[in-house]
Amino acid sequence: MAQVVVVTGASGGVGRAVARAYGRRGASVALLARGKTGLDAAAAEVREAGGRALIIPTDVADPDAVFAAAETAERELGPVQVWVNTAFTSVFAPFEKIGPAEYERTTTVTYLGYVYGTMAALALMRPRDEGVVVQVGSALAYRGIPLQSAYCGAKHAIQGFHESLRCELLHEHSGVHVTMVQLPGVNTPQFSWVLSRLPRHPQPVPPIYQPELAARAVLHAADRPRRREYWVGTSTVLTLLANAVAPGLLDRYLARTGFGSQQTDQPTDWDRPANLWQPADRSADFGAHGEFDDTAHARDPQQWASRHHGVLGAAALAVAGAAAVAGLRRLRR
Ligand SMILES: NC(=O)c1ccc[n+]([C@@H]2O[C@H](COP(=O)([O-])OP(=O)(O)OC[C@H]3O[C@@H](n4cnc5c(N)ncnc54)[C@H](OP(=O)(O)O)[C@@H]3O)[C@@H](O)[C@H]2O)c1
Repeated sequence: MAQVVVVTGASGGVGRAVARAYGRRGASVALLARGKTGLDAAAAEVREAGGRALIIPTDVADPDAVFAAAETAERELGPVQVWVNTAFTSVFAPFEKIGPAEYERTTTVTYLGYVYGTMAALALMRPRDEGVVVQVGSALAYRGIPLQSAYCGAKHAIQGFHESLRCELLHEHSGVHVTMVQLPGVNTPQFSWVLSRLPRHPQPVPPIYQPELAARAVLHAADRPRRREYWVGTSTVLTLLANAVAPGLLDRYLARTGFGSQQTDQPTDWDRPANLWQPADRSADFGAHGEFDDTAHARDPQQWASRHHGVLGAAALAVAGAAAVAGLRRLRR
């Protein structure tokens, strides 16, 4: 039977690529977001790929709308097996240029949107004692960077929430699993439609990866949800390791490089759309990809290593063991 999947933030970016990837598997996909143009285009892509698509226009900041969407998805498509949270919004600006209402809205959509989505998913999955929730996270769930304080706060909150919930589900020996996928910089429309007060056009911190790489990681995590989290991309691994060892050094490094690395050379177009309060796709479909196709990477060897970390760990142990035995023999001689 076809897998039933709910994707929040399915009208653009990573969520759109995830929806498409499930479409290629022949899954029935409920597409949650606000923008009609993007949702219609996402549904067409899922159908073209071989899946079934159900559009459910939803603002994830509204818990009742999210709970109602979950019921609609289940009624129309069947028992929901996978719920992927990707919907988010933000403000690109220094802390002092973000107002309280903008902070609240970013936090409500980006953090509480995941909480409401997870509540809705668990209400469906717990009685069956099976199902998977994937929280699409970021290297910035552990490491704050300048110009993204509202977003980094919300991503850190998701990471704490994820750990608590995972402990509770493990305590109950639940058959419902939650996992989190920490992404690197991805070439999505967010850099064209997130509210920006930066003097130059925003960009992801390089290296930049394509949304299909992120989508593959999300589907892999959903298929193997017992791991607490997945790190995606060499840059994510290096950032998280460096932050665990020397966060103070990283503060100074990012203070020096983090402003320039998040902006292109182009001046900001102050007429650009912003998706903080309403969808930005009224005049055009933004799609899964952003403006950085020329520089974005489609693959990363780290992904292979992450998928085979058991084999790599065993190989590393075997090499270390052989070296230790050889060393002992030399000492005895
Ligand atoms: N791109 C990156 O560099 C990057 C890096 C690390 C992690 N991530 C993570 O990947 C996820 C997706 O990011 P992205 O870059 O793909 O974002 P994106 O291109 O900006 O797409 C965001 C999606 O969220 C939806 N959305 C925004 N506000 C919403 C609301 N109030 N209610 C419902 N849906 C809403 C948008 O659709 P509507 O506007 O139509 O509602 C859109 O479908 C996020 O969780 C982000 O933290 C991205």
